[in-house]
Amino acid sequence: MEDLQQKVNKQRLPKHIAIIMDGNGRWAEEKGEDRLFGHFHGVNSVRSIVEASAELGIQYLTLYAFSTENWDRPQQEVDGLMTLLVETIHKEIAELNEKNVKLHVIGDMTMLPDFAQAELKEAIALTSNNNGLNLIMALSYSSRWELINAVKNIGFDVKAGKINPENINQETFSQYLSTSNFPDPELMIRTSGEYRISNFLLYQLAYSELYFTNTCWPDFKKENLYEAIIDYQNRERRFGKTGKQISHIEHGS
Ligand code: IPE
Ligand code: IPE
Ligand code: MG
Repeated sequence: MEDLQQKVNKQRLPKHIAIIMDGNGRWAEEKGEDRLFGHFHGVNSVRSIVEASAELGIQYLTLYAFSTENWDRPQQEVDGLMTLLVETIHKEIAELNEKNVKLHVIGDMTMLPDFAQAELKEAIALTSNNNGLNLIMALSYSSRWELINAVKNIGFDVKAGKINPENINQETFSQYLSTSNFPDPELMIRTSGEYRISNFLLYQLAYSELYFTNTCWPDFKKENLYEAIIDYQNRERRFGKTGKQISHIEHGS
């Protein structure tokens, strides 16, 4: 574990890592347990990954914890997840402060039960002065929800004369997304062997490096994160250019 951490090039860290934490249910079912048992163990992985990210000096970590579509799961699972969310946040606030972690939430908060909204608001306020890792929880989030919301708000602002449609560019558009304060993720990880995006950061992932692993989320620990970062660091990000152009840029000519 120590060794892998040392293989991570600290000079070339991604600023922003986004993770689809998937496979809790299957992990539990394989053990003959209830799906909630998997979510419960998934919390330990969240703790490890937040800690590893803070230790490395990652600036932004976005965790997809609950999608808009997840509201359609059986009520018992939804209720269990909400309770787990609130209890975990409540328990972890002191630890987040100790690690200088600043909590943010993206998603449709109005869908969350009142007790969850209140707990989140409090945790955001209590960690708002921290300036280490930005931990962004995507809760009741979906990218299409976010994009439609952005378009609606742009429409309202055009109508109110606040912006001229002629002047709308990528920068203007990003300002209307819930991620307006964060850079795009350079690395997106999905666990559990599923190869899809599931309505996560569709706009922001335009040029992200995608990393898929068969490991289910409750088994995803620090060394798995280091492996993903090392894999990312061995890739050539071309942004539409040729490999030759990129190596010239990297060598400063
Ligand atoms: C991810 O694990 C956590 C949430 C979506 C809340 P899942 O609950 O999707 O687990 P699988 O994919 O069914 O195994
Ligand atoms: C995506 O996982 C959402 C989260 C991890 C919170 P899902 O398990 O809901 O996605 P699908 O249904 O496999 O696409
Ligand atoms: Mg899943």
